[in-house]
Order: sequence, then structure tokens, then C-alpha cells
Amino acid sequence: MQPEDIGKVVVVGAGVMGHSIALVMACRGREVALVDVEQERLDHALRLMESAFRVLAEAGKEDPGGWETVRGRIRAFTVLEEAAEDCHLVVEAVPEVPEVKKEVFARLDRCCPPHAILTSNTSGLDIFEFVEVKDPSRLLIAHWFNPPHVIPLVEVVPGPETSREAVSLVRTFLESLGKVPVVLKGFTRAFIVNKIQNMMGLAVFELLGSGLVEPEDIDRAVKYSIGIRMPVIGVVQSLDFTGLDLVADIAGSYGLSVPFIQELVERGRLGVKTSAGIYDYGGRDEMDILAKRDRLFLELMDRMRELGTFDPV
Ligand SMILES: NC(=O)c1ccc[n+]([C@@H]2O[C@H](COP(=O)([O-])OP(=O)(O)OC[C@H]3O[C@@H](n4cnc5c(N)ncnc54)[C@H](O)[C@@H]3O)[C@@H](O)[C@H]2O)c1
Repeated sequence: MQPEDIGKVVVVGAGVMGHSIALVMACRGREVALVDVEQERLDHALRLMESAFRVLAEAGKEDPGGWETVRGRIRAFTVLEEAAEDCHLVVEAVPEVPEVKKEVFARLDRCCPPHAILTSNTSGLDIFEFVEVKDPSRLLIAHWFNPPHVIPLVEVVPGPETSREAVSLVRTFLESLGKVPVVLKGFTRAFIVNKIQNMMGLAVFELLGSGLVEPEDIDRAVKYSIGIRMPVIGVVQSLDFTGLDLVADIAGSYGLSVPFIQELVERGRLGVKTSAGIYDYGGRDEMDILAKRDRLFLELMDRMRELGTFDPV
């Protein structure tokens, strides 16, 4: 199958994630069968989709007169077996409860055509441990971010038996929807972003509990520092700007050894200051790289001030 052959998508679960993923598919011309346990939830999902569509249209991302066409591509079902007929791809977005997901996949396995790709939107469950399908080569995780109709990233996580073809098809299909897939080589709990976000959450809980800082000041501190840096240099390239020798020393002061970093330091790859670190800067001059970073930071800050993003929403 090619991405353009994916004409019909089943989205199971019409909640916070499902309704929005279904909207993305319908906006990009796919026929969508949206499934939930009650008609009321489906009706609510359709109202949310229309409202989200209006916001996208106001922002110039969708044709303001296009809702009826998009709506015409979406059918709502309370019976999974009726929705799954002739589908090419499934997005499972039911609650993060292993028994619920297990049962849904068992039913999908029985009623979907054999060529249909089965994806789960789990936030971190190792579905490959407990989901039972006859052909696990077509099962993988595609983890979207809330709100899926706005946030580009989808983490794609294969299981031990997922086929390369299934991974490649899901990746190119997501790209054809205008999304940015990042493919992992295998399962790791919470994938990339939630792993990082969870650690941040632990730090926030500690600070809130410490009474040492006002809650609003935690957000101010983050917005006025890493909030400016992260969109430009991420969290890995950021280490190249810090200097990997210093990063290794800081890790050491916490009693950590990071062989990945240590090895680069031993090879003289200290980051931007040596034009090579985790990233390769192709011999570019340090001042050139720093100037580009600074210009981007300054422009981004101006735009953030204009938009008022330093203030609470
Ligand atoms: N909410 C988020 O920010 C977020 C982000 C990324 C991933 N996820 C993951 O997406 C999945 C769904 O999360 P959500 O926030 O959309 O949950 P939700 O509770 O908003 O929606 C789940 C929907 O699934 C329906 N459902 C339950 N059992 C069903 C069944 N057997 N068949 C069909 N529908 C059924 C429920 O009625 C509900 O409408 C979870 O695995 C969650 O971890 C959530």
C-alpha cells in the first residue's frame, strides 16, 4: 500500500484525541469511520470537530467554506464491526486501560481486512506485551499530541514484530497529512516527549511542594529561559552550546556517567566551540553558529512579546 491508497480510516474512541485525529484525516480527504460506545459522545465529538475546524479556517489553515465537505467524509458508529468494513488504517484512541485496549484490538483483529494497519495512540503502554493479534507485523504505536489538529509531531513506535513496510507506510502517510513523524527503533516507556515531560513534571511537583518559589514564578522562569531556547536548539543540540566537557562535569557532579557524551569529549568533539559535538557543524565557525542562534532567539522573543506568550493564557 502507498499513502494515497489509505482512503478509509477507522478512529476508535471519539474523546479528547480521537475527535481531533478524525478531523485531521477528514480534512486531508480521507473517509473516516469514528467509533464510540455511545451516540451522545459521537454527537459531542462532531460538535468539537466543527468548532476546531472553524478555528483552523480562521487561522487560514482550512477553507472557511469547507466544513460541509469535511463533515461529509465522517461517519459515526457505535458498533466497531460496522465501522471497520473496508478500512485501510485504524487509530485506536480508547482509554489508557490495558484491558480496554486489549479487547478493542481483539475485535479489530477479527473484523478489519487483513491488509489494514493497526495503530494505537497509547501514551506509553507496552501494547506489544498484551495486545493479541494474528498478524503482529501490522501493529504499531502512532502517538499523537494534543491537540492533534494543531500539533505536528506523531511518535511512531514499532513493536518487536512490526514490519518495516508498516512503519514506512505509517510514516509516509503521516507526512502526507502534513504531520511530522519521528520514528523510534523500538519500544521505550513514554517514548521521547512524555519521558522528558514526565521528568519535568517531577521537578515541578518537587518545587510546588517545597514552598520555595511561587507557582507563577516557575512558569516565568521557564518561559524566560528554556522557553526561548528549546524551539531553536531543542534539548540535545542545546548540550553542544553548553559544551560537552562541561555537560560531562555537571553529570559527574550528580554522580552520573554518560558514556555517550564522554566518548565525544575524548574525541575532542566538545560542541559548538569545536564545530563538532553531538551535531556536526561541518567546520562552520563558532561565531557564525552563535550569531545564527542569537538572531533566532532575538526574533523569537520579539514575536513572543508581541503575542503576549510570556503572560499566562
Ligand atoms: N489526552 C491526551 O492529551 C492524550 C495525548 C496523547 C495520547 N493520549 C492517549 O490517547 C488515548 C485516548 O485518550 P483520550 O484523552 O482521548 O481519552 P478520552 O477518555 O477523552 O476518550 C476515550 C474515548 O474512548 C471511548 N471508548 C471507551 N471504550 C471504548 C470502546 N470499547 N470502543 C470505542 N470507544 C470506546 C470513550 O467513550 C471515550 O469517548 C489514551 O490511550 C491516551 O493515553 C491522550
